[in-house]
Amino acid sequence: MKKCEVIQAGDPCLKQRSQEVPPEAILGPDVQSIIDDMIVTMDAYQGVGLAAPQIGINLRIMCYGFEHNPRYPNALPVPLTIFINPVILNRSQDIQTGFEGCLSLPPLRGEVPRYQWLEVKGYDRHGNEIIKKAEGFEARIIQHEIDHLDGIFFIERIQDFKHFGLTEVLKAHEIIP
Ligand code: NI
Repeated sequence: MKKCEVIQAGDPCLKQRSQEVPPEAILGPDVQSIIDDMIVTMDAYQGVGLAAPQIGINLRIMCYGFEHNPRYPNALPVPLTIFINPVILNRSQDIQTGFEGCLSLPPLRGEVPRYQWLEVKGYDRHGNEIIKKAEGFEARIIQHEIDHLDGIFFIERIQDFKHFGLTEVLKAHEIIP
């Protein structure tokens, strides 16, 4: 279990579609150790979520969850969740706009429109198929991380750049907490 470097914006690794994990490989030591490294790395950098390409591995694995997060101080706790090969089954008509950041682009935040809720299918780390319905900030994180698996950055989703800026400056003006 080790803390990895988080790959930063500009690296081609973050711009490609990651590959599915063969289900029979989930319980193997390689995939299990990738998951362990992702959890340690996410916590070490105080992320709310992390996708495998952010540690340089182009496989469709994502994790998210936190108790209290200083980068998103108003966010309610979200249980630690691992999704392998996540697929969106269903989603709301409603779109909500909210601020997002990214460990691969830490100095910037912007307002991104996302589905208010969604239903996702995938595997957990034990190789069990899971279906989860999530809403609000959790649904936002899931969409952000699935985007990473497809090589898409949150800034590509921004429709209105009025509230885009440097994290420090947005905080100083109390535009974000
Ligand atoms: Ni990100």
